[in-house]
Amino acid sequence: MFETLKALNPDPILGLMAAYRQDQNPKRVDLGVGVYKDEAGHTPILDCVKRADTLHRAAETTKTYVGPPGDPDFDAGIEKLVFGADHPTLKAGLIRTVQAPGGCGALRIAAELINRAKPGAAIWVSDPTWANHVPLLGDAGLEIKLYPYYDAASQGLKADAMLGALAQIPAGDLVLLHGCCHNPCGVDLKPAEWDAVAKLAVDRGFTPFVDLAYLGLGTGLDEDAYGVRKLAATVPELIVASSCSKNFGLYRERVGALSLVSPNAAQTDIVFGQIQNVARGIYSMPPNYGGALVGRILSDATLTADWKRELNAMRDRINGLRGQLATKFRERLGTHRFDFIPQQLGMFSFLGLTKEQVAQLKNEYSIYMVDSSRINVAGVNQQNIDYFCDAVCQVL
Ligand SMILES: Cc1ncc(COP(=O)(O)O)c(C=O)c1O
Repeated sequence: MFETLKALNPDPILGLMAAYRQDQNPKRVDLGVGVYKDEAGHTPILDCVKRADTLHRAAETTKTYVGPPGDPDFDAGIEKLVFGADHPTLKAGLIRTVQAPGGCGALRIAAELINRAKPGAAIWVSDPTWANHVPLLGDAGLEIKLYPYYDAASQGLKADAMLGALAQIPAGDLVLLHGCCHNPCGVDLKPAEWDAVAKLAVDRGFTPFVDLAYLGLGTGLDEDAYGVRKLAATVPELIVASSCSKNFGLYRERVGALSLVSPNAAQTDIVFGQIQNVARGIYSMPPNYGGALVGRILSDATLTADWKRELNAMRDRINGLRGQLATKFRERLGTHRFDFIPQQLGMFSFLGLTKEQVAQLKNEYSIYMVDSSRINVAGVNQQNIDYFCDAVCQVL
C-alpha cells in the first residue's frame, strides 16, 4: 500500500545538521540546530538534572504506567512556574495541566482538543512562526492563518499591523502567541503589547494559545511569563503549551505540558477529562522519566535554586553573546546594522542575509545556518566569534 506515497524533500534543518557533521573544516560553525550550547559547543546535562536523576533512581520502585496526566509533582510545579504560585486563576482552581511528550506533544494534543470542540477552527499564527507549528496544528485539522508580526526592515515588531489584524479576528478563532523568545525572529511583545492583546481577546472573543518553549531564556522567569500570566488573569479561556526541552536541557526526554484555563469549575473538569481522552487516543500515557526529574527539581527548594542558577547562566551567556556580536559587527562595519541583535531575546535572530549569502557562508566558510539566515546565538563562542563576524562581513 505504501507505493502510493511520494518521496518527501529532506527536512532542511536535519539536512543542515548532516552536512555539518560531514564537514571536515576544523573551523566549521553550527548555528543551525535550535539547542543551547555552552562555550565548548556542548549541550550539557544540567547539574540539577544529574542530582535529580540520582534521587529519582534511588526512590523509584516501579515502572508501571503513570496516568494520562503524568507526574502530579510535575504538573503542579509547571503550573506554579508558568502562572506564578499566587496567580488568582490558579488559586481559583481554574487551571488544569497534563504532562505531554515535549512541547510538540502539548501543541498537538491541544490542536486535537480544539478540533474536537470546533472542527476546522481557524488558528492565527505570527508571520513568521516556527515551521513545525504548521504540521502540528494543521495536520490535526485546524485552518492556519497568518497575522503580521516581524518587520524585516526594522528587525522589530510590526506592532500596529499586528494589533490591527487581531482587532479584526472573528469570535471563536484562536491566536497562537510565542510566550517569549520568538522562534525564529527573537522579537517579543512588550508588556504593553501583551496588555493590548489580552484586551483584544476579550473584546473580540478569540482564544489565545501561548507556546512557551523558552521560559527563562529571555529576560528572566517572571519577566518571560508576563504575557501568559496577564492572559490567564484576563481571558476566560487560555491554552498554554510549555516545554522543558530548552530550559531544563531535557530535549531527548520529551518533557512538556499542556495547561488549560477555563471560565468555571464545571468546564475545567470537562476539559481535563477530554484532554486525557485525546492523549489516550494518541500515545496513551506520557513518558515518565523527564517529567519525574522536573517534578523533583520543582518540588525541592535546593534543587529549584540550583536550577535557576544554571538557567540564569545559560540566559546570561546568550545575552552576553548578543551584545558582543553587535559590538564586533559595529567595529568591523562601522555601522549600526547589527545593533538589533541585543534588542532581541532567546536563542534566535534573523541576520537579514540573502539565501545566496547564507549559501556562501556554508560553502566557503563552513558556517551553517537556516536559509532564512536565522542563527542560534548559543552556537557562537569565544573561539568562533571573530571568524564568524569576519565571514559575515566578507559575504556582505
Ligand atoms: C517555538 C517552539 N515551540 C515548541 C517547541 C517544542 O519543543 P519540544 O517538543 O522539543 O519540547 C520548540 C522546539 O524547538 C519551539 O522552538
